[in-house]
Amino acid sequence: MEITRTLFGHTAAGEAVDRFTLTDGAVSASILTLGGVIQSLVVPDKDGAPVDVALGFDCVAAYEAQDCYIGALIGRCANRIAGGRFTLSGRTYQLALNDRGLCHLHGGETGFNLRVWSPSLSANGLTLRYHSPDGEEGYPGALDAAVTYRLEHGALTLEYHATSTQDTLCNLSNHVYFNLAGHASGTVGAQRLRVYASRYTPIGDTGTATGEIAPVIGTKLDLQQAAALGDAWDDPQLANAGGYDHNYMIDGFGQRTFAEAYCPENGIQLTVISDLPAMQLYTGNFLHDKLPTGKGGAVYGRRHGFCLETQFPPNAPGCPAFPQPVLHAGAAYHSRTTYALGTP
Ligand code: GAL
Repeated sequence: MEITRTLFGHTAAGEAVDRFTLTDGAVSASILTLGGVIQSLVVPDKDGAPVDVALGFDCVAAYEAQDCYIGALIGRCANRIAGGRFTLSGRTYQLALNDRGLCHLHGGETGFNLRVWSPSLSANGLTLRYHSPDGEEGYPGALDAAVTYRLEHGALTLEYHATSTQDTLCNLSNHVYFNLAGHASGTVGAQRLRVYASRYTPIGDTGTATGEIAPVIGTKLDLQQAAALGDAWDDPQLANAGGYDHNYMIDGFGQRTFAEAYCPENGIQLTVISDLPAMQLYTGNFLHDKLPTGKGGAVYGRRHGFCLETQFPPNAPGCPAFPQPVLHAGAAYHSRTTYALGTP
């Protein structure tokens, strides 16, 4: 793996943002110190032509202006918490209600996606670090997060570490939008997806998990056999989310395959491997035409990308049956997610 570094630009507050490009043969991944964004992910298609499969922007201002978390790390706690309220170790905390005033979403008003992280290079790859002070966005404890990016054999691995000075919530994820036909190629409806989950967590009217864990079988959420994303995304069963925007409880434990996506047009396949309990499948239903212009002049719109967000299940603090993303003071949070790309 080769790594190069260039200055990408400056935030509105004047902080420098660097872009690191990891190269392994014909595959490359560019990572920004702003939000740990995966700014590009280039992989050869079945004919050897390079395809950039990650949505992104060419300048820092666009990343700061967008409201769709494109490419970014998500923290301290990915996904929705109903009412933004949770009780931990006997104390109740109120987090920012940055999702329609109803829920806490993806870490709050200024989540990890908008922070500038400190980079360092080692034999392991690129490590980005962020110190989140005690009380930031309402969360207890000062939290030190580190994410290491490594590119090997066409696979990009993100290894997450964190420690906290007090008991807190920690549910780190990444919000890269994939479009396997190429980031500028329109809707992803023809791309096929298989999800290794026999159960999911139903959502209520505000898009938050109700606490139930239900079988996918017999529902339009059943992707145990691969199906085109567009086959069911307009089905009335998915109407309350505007398409796929659901959390799957992935079968099994430990490092295992979560999902496989495939683009029949160019033969590119993406395999997601992780050790977490769950994954949000989101088909970019809220991507909109007022987003800043994308890379190379691309225009992004509704459903032009899909996210496979490995995570603890959403709204866990209010759902006792779910695995809980609690990080105790002095303990170590560790998880690993791999996005493997190739043409089988
Ligand atoms: C997803 C979430 C969607 C939406 C999106 C950001 O992770 O599931 O409902 O909030 O992030 O636009």
